[in-house]
Amino acid sequence: MELSTYNKSSIEEIKQLFTKVFSDSEGPSEGSLIGNLAFDLIESTDSKDIYGFVASENDQIIGSIFFTRLIFENGVNAFILAPVAIHTNWQGRGIGQNLIKYGIDHLKKEGVTLMFTYGDPNYYSKVGFSQITEKVAKAPLKLSQPEGWLCQSLVDRDIEPIAGNSRCVEALNKAEYW
Ligand SMILES: CC(C)(COP(=O)(O)OP(=O)(O)OC[C@H]1O[C@@H](n2cnc3c(N)ncnc32)[C@H](O)[C@@H]1OP(=O)(O)O)[C@@H](O)C(=O)NCCC(=O)NCCS
Repeated sequence: MELSTYNKSSIEEIKQLFTKVFSDSEGPSEGSLIGNLAFDLIESTDSKDIYGFVASENDQIIGSIFFTRLIFENGVNAFILAPVAIHTNWQGRGIGQNLIKYGIDHLKKEGVTLMFTYGDPNYYSKVGFSQITEKVAKAPLKLSQPEGWLCQSLVDRDIEPIAGNSRCVEALNKAEYW
């Protein structure tokens, strides 16, 4: 298994991976929603605002993860992890945690100081995330599950409350993802 930066030419393979994994875990409509999200993120996001990584086995993509910029009025260098998927046949072997750590390490080296995500606190706590409230940092859209709003500091400082609103990239700027 090899971890690497994604290549834009793999857009269809990455879309298929997210579609399949989320169809398997949450049904076909969620599969199609997240497959399209991955496609739109790759296609429409300015390269300075997106990082993506893949896990491959024999030149096949078996896992993928994306991080896109979150803009706050105070200018903090923040990104959000979304989405991530490991091929159904390869889940539960630590690949998800390895891929997440690999991506976060890369962004840390690029100077990103705060990492957000929106998901299951039990899973993401394994890779350094903690639950926060919107008193600490506003989400860009209304959260249907506020308990899933998660953050970690990538520098040697605690998370400090950030005043003002936040803005995500266009592809994520849809109520159904939140
Ligand atoms: C969630 C996902 C990325 C995790 O990757 P993975 O390679 O299967 O997970 P790992 O092997 O690194 O970690 C396994 C651990 O996480 C737990 N775990 C796996 N999926 C979980 C989930 N959806 N919720 C909570 N815990 C989960 C396992 O119980 C296991 O715990 P343990 O180490 O204490 O036994 C992968 O299972 C997946 O793609 N799931 C479907 C899509 C999805 O839910 N994506 C995340 C939301 S964006």
